[in-house]
Amino acid sequence: MRSTLSPAFTSSKMRLMVPFMVEVGEQMMQSLHQSIKQSKDGSIDIECKDLTTRYANDVIASCAFGLKVDSHNDKNNTFYALGKETSSFNFRQMMTFFMLINAPALAKLLKLDFLSESSKEAFKKLVLGTMENRELKNIIRPDMIHLLMEAKKGRLTHDEIKTNDLAAGFATVEESSVGQKEINRVWTDEDLVAQAVLFFIAGFETVSSGMSFLLYELALNPDVQDRLAQEIKENDAKNGGKFDFNSIQNMVYMDMVVSELLRLWPPGVALDRLCTKDYNLGKPNPKAEKDFILRKGTGVWIPVYPIHRDPQYFPNPDKFDPERFSEENKHTINPVTYMPFGAGPRNCIGSRFALCEMKVMAYQILREMEVSPCTKTCIPAKLCKNTFNLRLEGGHWLKFRPRT
Ligand code: HEM
Repeated sequence: MRSTLSPAFTSSKMRLMVPFMVEVGEQMMQSLHQSIKQSKDGSIDIECKDLTTRYANDVIASCAFGLKVDSHNDKNNTFYALGKETSSFNFRQMMTFFMLINAPALAKLLKLDFLSESSKEAFKKLVLGTMENRELKNIIRPDMIHLLMEAKKGRLTHDEIKTNDLAAGFATVEESSVGQKEINRVWTDEDLVAQAVLFFIAGFETVSSGMSFLLYELALNPDVQDRLAQEIKENDAKNGGKFDFNSIQNMVYMDMVVSELLRLWPPGVALDRLCTKDYNLGKPNPKAEKDFILRKGTGVWIPVYPIHRDPQYFPNPDKFDPERFSEENKHTINPVTYMPFGAGPRNCIGSRFALCEMKVMAYQILREMEVSPCTKTCIPAKLCKNTFNLRLEGGHWLKFRPRT
């Protein structure tokens, strides 16, 4: 399934989805300007996790489900409520998740499922209904629904993968060729719905978390924010205010900033793998007498967050320093110490989508707004302990003011 779908995530497909992201960003900017207009001093304090969650929700609604929603103005729309339920990772979902991983047979016996029956039905109706409508009316909208329909017809091919992808960004992961020959998959309706929901689950919290930390770091590092805003301004002038895929792909500093953000605050804090054959890791320390053999069937967790903050690989690791990814410095980074999108054949299929989305949002906000700390900003950064996700204690509060 992975191999069949990977052509849906090449840069050439992302290019066609940028207008949908821009449209969502414009809604967000309108809503921000409106709130600022109603404020007394021309600025507002915003909980940025809420802002970025609404943005990520609307982008997935548009790009993955073909729906136009505006969660900034229509705060409790049905799709947003559905998304919240799916991705909130409450206690029941957390327990279900651990059962599914650690005792899959028992989980099956108990009929445990990550989603409630009503959410599953709602997603099913949404995806299959949209597909039926498009088929009937011959509608083509270049989004994930369209690509899933193409996959079902066997029309998604791999020949484009090697082109157009060079400028996607430093953090992008490469698509492996494993399994690419076996693309004659028969798709059931359930498979199609499951993929759209998976994109939602995998791409919603990750992007909004990354974006909320990005805004936080930009507010705390005004020199970085100013330089990025300058790059956006120059880029805007060069393109006559027109904003498309090329606008963000050629922005060197933007890529440095986003790459560093994904090092310091990687939304995927760890990777998991199952060992498929015995592997000798050698002696664990100089005093050890025996080699350490990793046995077949062992579950392995790879701690991305601590590796990204190890001073051995990233000097002064707690500092937000985009210069680590400059043209002169980026070659010194050992690729296996930088894994925001994972590694190998099961790396993140959506890395180009995610980078594109984050850059579009940063572009739109910084073009018009200045972000700075406010009285409620969590300084120094302290992680919230009562959630499974990366989150700052007390929320991601920042002040927004229109740029002069
Ligand atoms: C900043 C945003 C994102 C981050 C940091 C992120 C990170 C990751 C990581 C670390 C993995 C596991 C990789 C591994 O084990 O080697 C993963 C897997 C995955 N991601 Fe993302 N992701 C992001 C956004 C997205 C988006 C937007 C989508 C889809 C639209 C997506 C779809 C997936 C899927 C389907 C997988 C499972 C791939 C497989 O098992 O073959 N991700 N992601």
